Amino acid sequence: MSDVQNTTTLLLVEDDLQQRKLLTAILVNEGIEVVDVSSCEEAILLLKQRTFDMVFSDWKLPHLSGLELLKYVRKNHVNLGFVMATAHGTIGHAVEAMNEGADDYLAKPFQRQELLLCISKVTKSARLKQQNQLLSEALGKQQQLVEFVGTSKQMQDVHKLISRIANTDVTVLINGESGTGKELAARALHRLSDRQSQRFVAINCGAIPSELAEAEFFGAKKGAFTGSHQDKIGKFEAADNGTLFLDEIGELPLALQAKLLRFLQEGTITPLGDTAEKKLNVRVLAATHRDLVDMVKTGDFREDLFYRLNIVPITIPPLRSRSEDIILLADFFLQHRAKQYGVELPVLSQEVREGLVSYAWPGNVRELSNKMERFVLLADELELLSGLENLRATQNKAEFQLPENGVNWDEFEKQCLSEALKRHAGNKTKSAKFLQMSYKAFLYRLEKYSLD
Ligand SMILES: Nc1ncnc2c1ncn2[C@@H]1O[C@H](COP(=O)(O)OP(=O)(O)OP(=O)(O)O)[C@@H](O)[C@H]1O
Ligand SMILES: [Mg+2]
Repeated sequence: MSDVQNTTTLLLVEDDLQQRKLLTAILVNEGIEVVDVSSCEEAILLLKQRTFDMVFSDWKLPHLSGLELLKYVRKNHVNLGFVMATAHGTIGHAVEAMNEGADDYLAKPFQRQELLLCISKVTKSARLKQQNQLLSEALGKQQQLVEFVGTSKQMQDVHKLISRIANTDVTVLINGESGTGKELAARALHRLSDRQSQRFVAINCGAIPSELAEAEFFGAKKGAFTGSHQDKIGKFEAADNGTLFLDEIGELPLALQAKLLRFLQEGTITPLGDTAEKKLNVRVLAATHRDLVDMVKTGDFREDLFYRLNIVPITIPPLRSRSEDIILLADFFLQHRAKQYGVELPVLSQEVREGLVSYAWPGNVRELSNKMERFVLLADELELLSGLENLRATQNKAEFQLPENGVNWDEFEKQCLSEALKRHAGNKTKSAKFLQMSYKAFLYRLEKYSLD
């Protein structure tokens, strides 16, 4: 705790006298200067009189709650660190606190070590934020997340959220259409955290056959399957002290959902064929392009796991809703690729620029990146333009010309479904997206026409 010693000043807000004495003793012993009060009202009075590095507040207080205090702090002392202590099993309070701008939360009962680690991190990031504020004031609003291109309001909000929660251990659920930058966001969260020098382990939950998934995630003892001659280290263990990124979390089989939940609650895993539990220190990030709320309703995703993952949701908006970022991103990719391939930087004509901005980008940033790579290599403006035009034409062709003598609706629907499947080599997720319907609605129709 040397970085926190001597300098950290902490305002402790706890109404239980015993708890307050105990916490104060632990913190003072670490060289932290503690001022303790028993109510939100006293805390606000003190905050008006002097400065602190951070506030550590209980959720449940007499009269005004810890949440009221948090709201006051976020309004009046933006860069002050804030940690909320919540009662055991009240994940809803943790969610609410994080939403209102707490830097972290601790569920009671917590260990001394957890408390100190949390305080050390929050103080560090509060100081970074203060420095950052000075820096960015000096640099004039220059972007803080360098490789995250985008100045739209939506992306600035995403950047702010990422900077705020990066150096905590809260689980984050990253939502967004395919190609919007979910993995990039996960990597930024890791890179801006204390875990940056440790491993970032990514696993695609949809890409592992379900019968191998448990060993892949949690590891297996030698001999746990026929032919396994040595212990297998699972992804969780590989990510110990670092970050584990669970991509496509919506594809996680139900049996593993239960095990993941257990890890998130207890911090322990049990490798396949082992009897002993292992305690790990892993920060979990998850991403999905699916609607998990919908999946909870249909019973395909555990509700308790959803709430446990969704403590801080980040939604990366589709590119079409932030068109002011399109040209910035296009220029960024052109420069990057031109440098990579050692070719001259191509110029985007006005016509191409307009084409890029009015196109709907169904494949989002990834599609833009691919198109720019191709343009750097081929320097074929016509090809680029026709790619944008063709799709735009089909996008706009929402009005079908119905035949004079009517249509066989069922036959028509069936044909659309088969054609979509054919075009996407039987991939149902992609086919559903192609037809602009939810996965559930798509499956329902497949079943209706026995196309499954
Ligand atoms: N804001 C951005 N600035 C620069 N590059 C970006 C940005 N957003 C995305 N990219 C780039 O676009 C590509 C797609 O991003 P990423 O893989 O993070 O998307 P994703 O949401 O995880 O996609 P999928 O759902 O298909 O897995 C990557 O090459 C990434 O580096
Ligand atoms: Mg991805």
